[in-house]
Amino acid sequence: MTNLPQAVAAKARTLAAAAGDPVSAFIYDLPALRRHVQWMKSCLPSGVELYYAIKANSEAPILQALEPFVDGFEISSGGEIARVRQCSGTHNFVFSGPGKLNSDLEQAMLNGVEMIHVESLDEIRRLDKIAARMGRRQPVLVRINPSLPPQLATKLSMAGAPTPFGIDESELPAAVALVEQCVHLELHGFHVHAMSHQLDVARHIQLLDWYLDKWPQWKALARNGERVRCLNAGGGMGVNYLQPAQFDWPQLCRHLAQRLAADTHAPRLRFEPGRFVSAFCGYYLMQVLDLKHSHGKGFAVCRGGTHQFRLPAAQAHDHPVLHLPAATSAAAAAGETEWTVVGQLCTPKDVLARDAALPGLAIGDLLLLPLAGAYGFNISHADFLCHPRPDQVFLDQAESETTLQWSETHAAHACS
Ligand SMILES: Cc1ncc(COP(=O)(O)O)c(C=O)c1O
Repeated sequence: MTNLPQAVAAKARTLAAAAGDPVSAFIYDLPALRRHVQWMKSCLPSGVELYYAIKANSEAPILQALEPFVDGFEISSGGEIARVRQCSGTHNFVFSGPGKLNSDLEQAMLNGVEMIHVESLDEIRRLDKIAARMGRRQPVLVRINPSLPPQLATKLSMAGAPTPFGIDESELPAAVALVEQCVHLELHGFHVHAMSHQLDVARHIQLLDWYLDKWPQWKALARNGERVRCLNAGGGMGVNYLQPAQFDWPQLCRHLAQRLAADTHAPRLRFEPGRFVSAFCGYYLMQVLDLKHSHGKGFAVCRGGTHQFRLPAAQAHDHPVLHLPAATSAAAAAGETEWTVVGQLCTPKDVLARDAALPGLAIGDLLLLPLAGAYGFNISHADFLCHPRPDQVFLDQAESETTLQWSETHAAHACS
């Protein structure tokens, strides 16, 4: 299924050889990340913007690798403002999310936020007061929770259903009127982030078409529609953790090119995916500590676990596992070919993959879990059981094509 880049395998081996104890770590392939985002950008019709939702992975080397290729970053907290500012100079950023603190709004404006996506009537009033105090006129997008047709709902809906996100479409006229009354706010358009994990490109196309059909109606709510030009259509493109076929981004982009060319009233369209940008560059490394049998099943107990890589448990899936036999491995467990890969936690929920086909597995071997670059370490409960945090290693390639020189950053310190 997934090919393991040679450089990642080599780094995994080096880490294991250098460590006193068996290892767990995240390894990120930054050249692959750059290639992927360049490819994403190259597929988009001209004028359509690509922002990166840094909640997927906001480590400094990831943001630095992406910065030259994305049009901006999407952030959702005061902490993420600091990530963007410490790690990426002066790049554009926009601010969404429910429950924004006054101090976050103020910090965002002090740090030159491009647009704030307002999510409630109260937030609009608060933002106007803060902007007034700061002597600023702040561009905003109103985040909508639209009344989506039922066939467009997904399993992780953030819109088209009762959710704390955005402003209910029925309140949109009031929200637009309120923004227009606020002397210190400027309405620039609308924002909709409806879902995560969309694997079906046809459904995503339907969703975007639905937004674009709605756009003239939304825009017409504004008394001064001149400035209302931006539609941020969010992220949500899924990553297929179980099969090789991935979300068909080129098909989505081809459809958009046709649709936008035919639509003279189309908005300036912007996307802000997280998962689909950074997932593919990351690998979670675990080393086998023990092999056991229990009630007819084989268990590979590994260094690390779901406290470091919660994604498989959070998604309730069996993550793919790549096997890298270690040079100094013990003899393989005879006969057993399927192993349930677990970590070091004292809970039966600490499972990364059930019944994974791992013939020849031995204590000391290395396992690499791919697709770990988004919502991996940063959504994990790393302090549970007081295990040390894993190293995060960022592999980068020097300019020369022939000599590979690897630089590493331990991200825990990169932004501090
Ligand atoms: C407002 C907003 N934009 C973008 C994203 C990124 O979503 P994804 O990683 O599914 O592309 C999220 C994720 O929750 C979000 O809340």
